[in-house]
Amino acid sequence: MANESKQATWGGRFSEGPAELMLRIGESVSFDQRLAPFDVLGSQAQAAMLAHVGIITEAERDAIQDGLDQVLAQIEAGHFVWNTELEDVHMNIEQALTQAVPAAAKLHTARSRNDQVATDMRLWFKFACDQLTASLDSVITSLVDLADRTQTVIIPGYTHLQRAQPVSMAHHLLAYVEMFDRDRTRVAAVKEEANVCPLGSGAIAGTTLPIDREFVAKLLGFVDADGNAKCTPNSMDAVSDRDAFIGFASACATIGVHLSRLSEDFILWSSAEFGFVKLPDAFTTGSSLMPQKKNPDAFELIRGKSARLTGNLQMLLTMVKGLPLTYNRDLQEDKPPVFDSLDQSLLMLDSVAACLHGVTANEARCAEAVADPALLATDVVDYLVEKGVAFREAHHVVGALVGLSEKLETALNELPYDEVSKIHPQLGEDWNRVFDLKRALEAREKIGMPGPKQVAARIAHWRE
Ligand code: ARG
Repeated sequence: MANESKQATWGGRFSEGPAELMLRIGESVSFDQRLAPFDVLGSQAQAAMLAHVGIITEAERDAIQDGLDQVLAQIEAGHFVWNTELEDVHMNIEQALTQAVPAAAKLHTARSRNDQVATDMRLWFKFACDQLTASLDSVITSLVDLADRTQTVIIPGYTHLQRAQPVSMAHHLLAYVEMFDRDRTRVAAVKEEANVCPLGSGAIAGTTLPIDREFVAKLLGFVDADGNAKCTPNSMDAVSDRDAFIGFASACATIGVHLSRLSEDFILWSSAEFGFVKLPDAFTTGSSLMPQKKNPDAFELIRGKSARLTGNLQMLLTMVKGLPLTYNRDLQEDKPPVFDSLDQSLLMLDSVAACLHGVTANEARCAEAVADPALLATDVVDYLVEKGVAFREAHHVVGALVGLSEKLETALNELPYDEVSKIHPQLGEDWNRVFDLKRALEAREKIGMPGPKQVAARIAHWRE
């Protein structure tokens, strides 16, 4: 069943309209309507440029710009009626405008939806990157606050999920701050990559009309640090390049991986087995069956949602890889994954930031876990090395002490000295002064180590 062609924008050569199913598979307005503010900005700049080069009059420009303001106001008020028969946000806005402003029939001069959507998306990426950065900032602030509160809480650090060496909880948390700070750098790089104006590339090969690409680029804020216009240098690349999409989805996927690892740590730490932290009630849920349960759902959901973020990246890479130059309609599917990546990343980051505010450390349980003297076995090795014993030999000697402790079922630091002294002559009577957590941490004050001064300095650094 075919419709009559309502396609004022491209319907000229068609004698019948698209099938119902063609409309359903072809429409993107259900998801690209969120580009409306950027589409309006782009069109207002386009109108300004067309007037600037004399293709339209100043009166026509003003009518178009005012009309676009009114269309956007209607959209923002929720009064605009989106029509899927008009396919996408671009044609919906243009047709509504044309009904009110006859001069709007000139707006699409020297432009194609191909360079138009590329421009809208680059504006959107710049906006989205600012939102991501703000949410990354709040996670970093929450982590630094919690690190500040846990500078003196010592816990075992783990490798292979086996107790390894003591660290402050603050040092552990600050590891995540490093990750989210690198994420900020990645997001800033995507924003910079997006900061180039494709307008004027047309459908594929630009235009014969006397447009001014720099003028429109500057109006839209596509400029370098000195205020010089940044225009895409190849029209074919400009309409088919989706690298910023991939870069954006990749930055979100990496943020998701970091959030997921953090979530996993907090899920473990809040279990009865660890008991290092108490999660706020507001970010946990109960069980409909087991009255005692308090489940770390927020962190579990974040761990789950991180899979969505990697999926979105995968989708984009797969979609683009086999496409011949230049624009292919496949590329319409590029928007849902990046919109979803932004929405989910913001939700995940904001939830973690808020949840961490309510986290408290259970100092007694941490102290219990870190009391295991075997966590300082490596420090005994260092003690021997300081006495001139070769590292490999010292390692072996301490291994023998650990074996002895297991055999005698006696804590490493409580082994009888007459047994200890038999193992190596350099194990002096003072050998077990090593088993002092405060001393162990204070001995680690080189850059990047968990010494209390290092940790405090890093907290001060992030506070700046
Ligand atoms: N809605 C389209 C998209 O997002 C706009 C570009 C359409 N271009 C075309 N040649 N049909 O990709």
